[in-house]
Amino acid sequence: MYKYVIKGGNPLVGEVEIGGAKNAALAIVTAAIMTDETVLLENIPDVSDTNVLLEAISVIGATVERIDRHTARINGSTIGSVSVDYEFIKKIRASYYLLGALLGKYKHAEVPLPGGCNIGSRPIDQHLKGFRALGATVDINYGMIMAEAEHLHGAHIYLDMVSVGATINIMMAAALAEGSTIIENAAKEPHVVDVANFLNAMGANIKGAGTDVIRIKGVKKLHKVQYTIVPDMIEAGTFMCAAAATKGDVLIKDIIPKHLEAISAKLAEIGCDVIEFDDAIRVSAKKRLGKTHVKTLPYPGFPTDMQPQIGATLALARGTSIVTESIFENRFKYCDELARMGANIKVEGNSAIIDGVESLKGARISAPDLRAGAALVIAGMSAEGITIVDDIVYILRGYERFAEKLRGLGADIQQVSEEKEIQKFRLQVS
Ligand code: EPZ
Repeated sequence: MYKYVIKGGNPLVGEVEIGGAKNAALAIVTAAIMTDETVLLENIPDVSDTNVLLEAISVIGATVERIDRHTARINGSTIGSVSVDYEFIKKIRASYYLLGALLGKYKHAEVPLPGGCNIGSRPIDQHLKGFRALGATVDINYGMIMAEAEHLHGAHIYLDMVSVGATINIMMAAALAEGSTIIENAAKEPHVVDVANFLNAMGANIKGAGTDVIRIKGVKKLHKVQYTIVPDMIEAGTFMCAAAATKGDVLIKDIIPKHLEAISAKLAEIGCDVIEFDDAIRVSAKKRLGKTHVKTLPYPGFPTDMQPQIGATLALARGTSIVTESIFENRFKYCDELARMGANIKVEGNSAIIDGVESLKGARISAPDLRAGAALVIAGMSAEGITIVDDIVYILRGYERFAEKLRGLGADIQQVSEEKEIQKFRLQVS
């Protein structure tokens, strides 16, 4: 299937525009069906995850009109089913947002229980705890979650752990419940705030998003809106690490620098020049980077979705770094692939001990998951020689026109599907 073939050694230089946030878009596309009026969404990232979810809502009957690759008109009045097909939850776990949206609007939802994924078991017990607190009966039979309620009422919900998905899913259901809901220990990620802003723009009454206590006053119905999705902080952070790892000089545009403070601080700490503008950040690195310790935490801590990318950057740093993953249990699979390129990394429990090496050598590697795949591309661009990254279908789930944007910054990278195209690339760059 599709692969990237990369010839390393080119510092990334120039400007790159960042798209809409995948993890906001997945929830907002779903929440858009909660009104019977028309919703116009702009800055939707054109990636397979959002495209699958747009398909999922149209299959249950919503009217979805793609105006262009980043704009869609959605109308939920034509929905005829509250049962989501297994194929969608298999393709994209975030289909579980349909639980909160359908339960909120129709007081009934049937969504397959999502399995684990490559980065961990990822249970959704907190989502279901929230729905039950709001008055829904939630049963799981034959792998299907059946949630329904005579009516939903406000509740005081304390999340056992900070969960982006549970915070968003409960917020959606509570938006149309009767009475007030408080979510304690809520996630504070920018995409949680974006979903709250979107729901409020549709007439919901949500306060405190971005803090760990969110207060929701249920309303009777939601109305039409035109909404632009927030920039993708993880796509931006990925390009920041790519600039650092290749000792380049890149202006990352159309972003909200505040969302990237943890990444900016870490890159500055290891020796990058990081300059913030109103809606852009410039990252440059002239000399070999230094070591550091990173621990992933819920926002505003260092994001788990940036852990593989900083790990790949530190593989070439001077000294020994420690990267600790506190959110997911299996997010170091990229380290084995980096070791095949000459990296010196030892994974012990939920920490990776990274002894920086002078150089990495190109190799044939494969993407274990979305963010690990992006990290391997960063490694390939920083390595000597040719790297082939297999299984890039994972990367295409969350990065729009990734190879094209990197080529725009001077990278030698092509997306290919046939082995003979790899030979052709080798000849071109030799
Ligand atoms: C969202 O996943 C993102 N996905 C993930 O991004 C991101 O890594 C994660 O938030 C953390 O920021 C989307 O937004 C579509 P969580 P989510 O609920 O909501 C445990 C990417 O690369 N937990 O915040 O599933 C869970 O196992 C993806 O774009 C429960 O135990 O993450 C994890 O250890 C990967 N029970 C921790 O909480 C629950 O009911 C945080 O998970 C829910 C979560």
